[in-house]
Amino acid sequence: MPLVSMRQLLDEAAKGGYGVGAFNVNDMEQIQAIMGAAKETNSPVIIQASRGARSFAQDRYLFHLILAAAELNPEIPIAMHQDHGNSFETCKSAIELGYTSVMMDGSLKEDGKTPASFEENVAVTKKVVDFAHARGVTVEGEIGVLGGVEDGHGAGGTGLEHVTDPDQAVEFAELTGVDALAIAIGTSHGAYKFSKKPDGSVLKMDVLIAIHKRLPKTHLVMHGSSSVPKDLQDVINQYGGKLKETWGVPVEEIQLGIRNGVRKINVDTDNRLAMTGAIRKVLWTQPEKFDPRDYLKPAREAMQKVVAQRMTQFGQAGHAGDYQAVSIAEIAKGYKDGSLSTKPLVAR
Ligand code: G3H
Ligand code: 13P
Ligand code: ZN
Repeated sequence: MPLVSMRQLLDEAAKGGYGVGAFNVNDMEQIQAIMGAAKETNSPVIIQASRGARSFAQDRYLFHLILAAAELNPEIPIAMHQDHGNSFETCKSAIELGYTSVMMDGSLKEDGKTPASFEENVAVTKKVVDFAHARGVTVEGEIGVLGGVEDGHGAGGTGLEHVTDPDQAVEFAELTGVDALAIAIGTSHGAYKFSKKPDGSVLKMDVLIAIHKRLPKTHLVMHGSSSVPKDLQDVINQYGGKLKETWGVPVEEIQLGIRNGVRKINVDTDNRLAMTGAIRKVLWTQPEKFDPRDYLKPAREAMQKVVAQRMTQFGQAGHAGDYQAVSIAEIAKGYKDGSLSTKPLVAR
């Protein structure tokens, strides 16, 4: 199957009442781990690259690695997504490369650190929507600000400093016409999200539910959704690592989100932990090893295991064969003739 529009993939997920994991990639092994898991569980999938990933791997390497994944797995719908675009130019360059979806994260200014005003966010996101939709490309926006800092991106602080205001979410969706909307409900990027297991009073699931009620057809996105499992932390620490005790987002909370309009769930940290633990274990227990394949193979396997587990937990497993790809040109027509507009779908 050629790469598919993320809009198509999320519309199908909404029909089926499941969520789709969006997994970050920087290299071949991570892409192979995701595809191994997608094949194993028969899942559609979103492969996403941050700005940091694009510069680490170089655009064309990463792009062609993801194309190879599509070529080798024609039965799996794959959306290629720019994660946390910081400007119109970043999103434009991804679209011109051939990404089928972009996130314009206008919740922060272009520096990726300073919270932006509502008006600034609307203006830059709308500009990306106009450019992207004319080319059949999906747009995810963000309203509210996540906690933490990853790769220099993030406002810092806890996830509860800029929780999304439902009224603003509705206004933002109407003014921009985004296909998917990332909301801030108390999660943060990275491993250090919570210092105790979060319960309903920490994660603002009530805000998520309120937004979904008013924007029933806008696909909600949960960022910072790694669960940071204790067993993955333990492997790292057992083999010389120094992670402090920490908690992530419980899978049950994500599943509650999925029952209330969450269609895209971003996971990066869990895969980083899995790969690093596997690599540490080889280097610690077999210090004579020096062939990268001796540690990259277990790392890839460890990541595949986590991704397959998430695909099952999010409900996307078993859905790869539900539909055929609609061409990006057809999707562009749908935006032009209004049939893919989300605007009339806002419930008052
Ligand atoms: O947004 C956060 C993702 O985990 C990507 O992280 O910017 O370090 O590649 P990164
Ligand atoms: P985690 O750090 O929780 O994996 O979040 C990843 C993310 O939101 C990428 O955009
Ligand atoms: Zn994110």
